[in-house]
Amino acid sequence: MISLQHIPEDGAQWSLNFSLVLRPSRVPSASRSVNPYIVCFVVIAVVVILAVTTSLLVYFLALGQKYYFYRSSFQILNVQYTDELSSTVTQKYRTLSGRIESTITRGFIESNLRKQFIRAHVISLRQSGSDVIADIVMKFKFTKDNNEPSVKRRIESVLQQIMNNSENLEMNTSGELTQITDQDTENILTQECGLRPDLTTLSDERIIGGTKAKEGDWPWQVSLQWSNLHHCGGVLISKKWILSAAHCFTSRSDTLQWTVTFGISTTFPKERRGIKTILIHNNYKPETQENDIALLQLDREVTFTRNIRMVCLPDASQNIPPGTTAYVTGWGSQRYTGSIVPDLEQARVKIISTKVCNAPSSYNGAILPGMLCAGLLQGGVDACQGDSGGPLVQEDARQLWFLVGIVSWGYKCALPDKPGVYTLVTAYRDWIYQHAEI
Ligand code: ARG
Repeated sequence: MISLQHIPEDGAQWSLNFSLVLRPSRVPSASRSVNPYIVCFVVIAVVVILAVTTSLLVYFLALGQKYYFYRSSFQILNVQYTDELSSTVTQKYRTLSGRIESTITRGFIESNLRKQFIRAHVISLRQSGSDVIADIVMKFKFTKDNNEPSVKRRIESVLQQIMNNSENLEMNTSGELTQITDQDTENILTQECGLRPDLTTLSDERIIGGTKAKEGDWPWQVSLQWSNLHHCGGVLISKKWILSAAHCFTSRSDTLQWTVTFGISTTFPKERRGIKTILIHNNYKPETQENDIALLQLDREVTFTRNIRMVCLPDASQNIPPGTTAYVTGWGSQRYTGSIVPDLEQARVKIISTKVCNAPSSYNGAILPGMLCAGLLQGGVDACQGDSGGPLVQEDARQLWFLVGIVSWGYKCALPDKPGVYTLVTAYRDWIYQHAEI
C-alpha cells in the first residue's frame, strides 16, 4: 500500500490510498504441481508493474514540476515613507509588508495561475521620494514542459491585473520582473527572520505529524552544551546573539565550558561556536522563576545558511490568543526521568490563558506576569527536562515564525492540568534590544 498523507495546520487530513490486494487463487488439487517458471514470471511481472506505477506516480506528483523564483519591485503610491519603515522589525514595516503580500497573493489566487503560485515575500521596503518601493520575491511551481518566456509573460500579465485592480493599495510596477536562481533566492531569504528554507511554511508543502524534526524545520534552534554535553536549548535571534533561560546558567557561569551547536543533531552538528558573554537578567528569581531569561553572545558570528537562521522577535504589543497553536522544540527527555535525545524533537501545543493556568487545580497562582502557559490541558504533549531555554514559536499571518516563549519550568512533564510554563518574550522585548546589539 502506498499512502500519501498530509496534515495541514488545522489538523484536517486528506489521504490518498492505493491498495493492491493479491489473493492467492485456489489451486485445484489436480494441478498441484504448478510450473515454477510461471510462478516466477508472475511474481516478476507484478513487481515490475508495481515499480513502473510507483515511478510514474512519483514523476507526475513531484519530479515533473519545477520551482521558479522571480523578483520584482513595486511602487506603493498611497503610503508615505516614514522612518519606521527603515527597520524590518517595526510594526509598521510588518503591517505594510503583510498588506502588499496579501494583495499579490489574492490577485494570483483569483487568476489562472492560482495552482502555480506559491508565495510572495517582501524582502525590503525602500524610500523613493515620499513613496515606498517594495522589493518582492515570488515562488511558483510549473510543470517542466513550460518554457520560460511564456511563464514570465503569464506572471507579468497577472501582476498587471493586480496593479489595475488593487483597491486599498495603489501599486505600480517599478522595475522589471526577473527570474532569479535558486541560489540567489536562498542568499536573499536566509537573511530574513522566521523563514524556513524554500519558503516551506506553506501549508500545502508542510508535513508535521511525527515528533522528529527535519533539518531546516527549526533553523533557529541551538543546543547549549556544558563540557560537550547538551544541557539546555537556545534560540538564534541574530548572527551573534542567542536567547535562552537564566536558570541554565546560575551554577554554570564559566563561558569557556560552554559550546553552542547548530543543526538538528547534537552528535553531528552543522556548526559550532563558543560563548563570549553570558548575560543573565538581573532580576532573575530562582524561587519563583521570574525573569527566567538570558542572552548569550557568540565568540564569532555564525553564517546564515539553509539550515541556520534567526527567528523573528515579536513586537511588545503582539497578542498571543489562548487556544492558538504553537510549537516547542528541543532535545529534552521524553519522560520526566528520561535522558536527553540526540535528534531534535518537535511538539504541537496550544496557548493556555494565564487565568486557566493559575486555577487551583493547575498552578494555583504561580504564573506571574512575565510567564506564559502552553501545552494540552489533558496532558500528553509538553516540553521536559533538557528543553529549557528552547523556543516556543508561532507562525503569523505572513507565515513568518515568531518567538513567543522560552521553555522555563513545569510540574514534572505532560501531566494533565500542568502545562509547560514559558518566559513570555513580548514582556522582555525592550530588555533584549537594550542588551543585545541587534
Ligand atoms: N526546567 C526544565 C529544564 O531545565 C524545563 C522544564 C520544562 N517543563 C515542562 N514541563 N514544560 O530543562
